[in-house]
Amino acid sequence: MLRIVVCVSGGGTNLQAILDAIDGGKITNTEVIAVISNNPGAKALDRAKAHGIPGMLMSPKSYSDREAFNSAFTEEMCRLAPDLVVLAGFLVRIPEEMVAKFSNRIVNIHPSLIPSFCGVGYYGLKVHEKVLERGAKVTGATVHFVNEGMDEGPIIAQKAVEVLEDDTPEVLQRRVMELAEWILLPQAIDDIANNRLFIEDGRVKRSSGA
Ligand code: GRF
Repeated sequence: MLRIVVCVSGGGTNLQAILDAIDGGKITNTEVIAVISNNPGAKALDRAKAHGIPGMLMSPKSYSDREAFNSAFTEEMCRLAPDLVVLAGFLVRIPEEMVAKFSNRIVNIHPSLIPSFCGVGYYGLKVHEKVLERGAKVTGATVHFVNEGMDEGPIIAQKAVEVLEDDTPEVLQRRVMELAEWILLPQAIDDIANNRLFIEDGRVKRSSGA
């Protein structure tokens, strides 16, 4: 059984997609043991509660400085000791010490086709604003392992989504979620839970026969 902790900051629709996929048998061998939010008002915490999953608050704002937060966050994660940490719309940078302790055991969903529209300053709605500003015709989502870099770890899966003429950032965000994020993230978790993926030479590969 893959024990996962899901980290969230907002609406929690990706968390919901994971919970629904577990309930519906699309993700197997997986249990969400906790949900961590940096935002006390995150709807994602309500979704966790409704599912009987412990929700906890870990915000940099509650600590004297970033270092103190980073240590407390890493300690809490070590205490929970999940097999996999899932960043589902989590807007806090993962401390390097946590990346080191959970090497290749943290995954993130990013709402663009990495390496486009990612890195510092590209989060949430901003990603879609920049896609529209640039006039890109195709965007999408990416699930990747988290390393010390920003949106730089090995890519697990990607899915393209068309950009339409009249899109607003909100409309595009919703389409990327519906057609890519809510599908890719549960699939990636199921693949990890069932040992279908491995990393070789810094790239994610699929086990033969899977
Ligand atoms: C998603 O688009 C995610 O990719 C991005 O922030 C959004 C979070 O949505 N980083 P939700 O909280 O899962 O509804």
